[in-house]
Amino acid sequence: MSLKKQDDYDHNAWIKSKDLSPVETVFLTTLVWLDKRLRIVDYLELLETLYYRSNMQMPKSHTEQYDLDNKFWYWYPLYTLGSFSTIAYVVAAVSGALLGFYYSPSTAAGACNISNASVAYCSVAGIMRDLQFGFMLRSIHRWSAQVMVAAVFLHMLRVYFTGAYKEPRELNWLIGIVLISLTMVFGYTGYLLPWDQLAFWAGQIGVEMSLSIPLAGEWVAQLLFGGFTLSQATLQRMYIIHVFLLPFVVTTLIAIHIGIVWVQGIAEPH
Ligand code: HEM
Repeated sequence: MSLKKQDDYDHNAWIKSKDLSPVETVFLTTLVWLDKRLRIVDYLELLETLYYRSNMQMPKSHTEQYDLDNKFWYWYPLYTLGSFSTIAYVVAAVSGALLGFYYSPSTAAGACNISNASVAYCSVAGIMRDLQFGFMLRSIHRWSAQVMVAAVFLHMLRVYFTGAYKEPRELNWLIGIVLISLTMVFGYTGYLLPWDQLAFWAGQIGVEMSLSIPLAGEWVAQLLFGGFTLSQATLQRMYIIHVFLLPFVVTTLIAIHIGIVWVQGIAEPH
């Protein structure tokens, strides 16, 4: 029933006339109030229709079609390395978002009584020393990141050695190549964020590697590191790549990657 189409009908009187519990009364009164202003019942119905229509058009998954749940190799533990990579990614994303509340990407001189420390370094030191369970949050982020790199690599080996990259899964193999590369970019950009000695010299190596690229070297160093020496521009670039650009791109690619697996199913061992 659409409430909108019966503007003259007194819904509140109808609610009062029924013997409803207080929770039901509050729920229905709120619904009527919202519907008069935002037509939410119409939109909910539209969403429901859309859901059923798109569901009817979804192809049957490969697993359903061939009843793979009953095949023993389908449950082989190495076939879950992709899911393990996904879980590690989700843990890293959630813990990283929480760290973002306390981290500041600035190379300016910090005020945390550590000689020559930047604001960025001091904010990480603050997370480790002052924030309740901050050391744990940071460890969860670092460990999940390392586990993700290992899991993605092992997942790739599994796919290779079971021949699962062959037709018709070439596209997912290529998306996988992009994913493992971006996983490493995630690791590198995150490694620079504490702006400590390790970060600084890893950054220096990055700049020099960029500069060594024939013809485009200077342009690449400018684009990725904001110049030929490390500066505020470098840290700011690493930060925005790590917390904004990569999360969007990698999340989208993982969704497409898993969507393709859903449609094609897990390959039988070759
Ligand atoms: C962020 C990284 C990645 C995530 C989260 C991910 C996730 C997944 C998941 C959940 C599956 C289902 C099967 C399984 O768990 O083994 C899968 C399958 C697959 N992945 Fe990945 N993957 C990633 C990286 C890669 C890489 C680096 C490659 C190879 C270059 C790759 C190629 C494939 C292929 C070809 C399949 C289909 C395997 C089959 O049908 O048996 N993926 N991936």
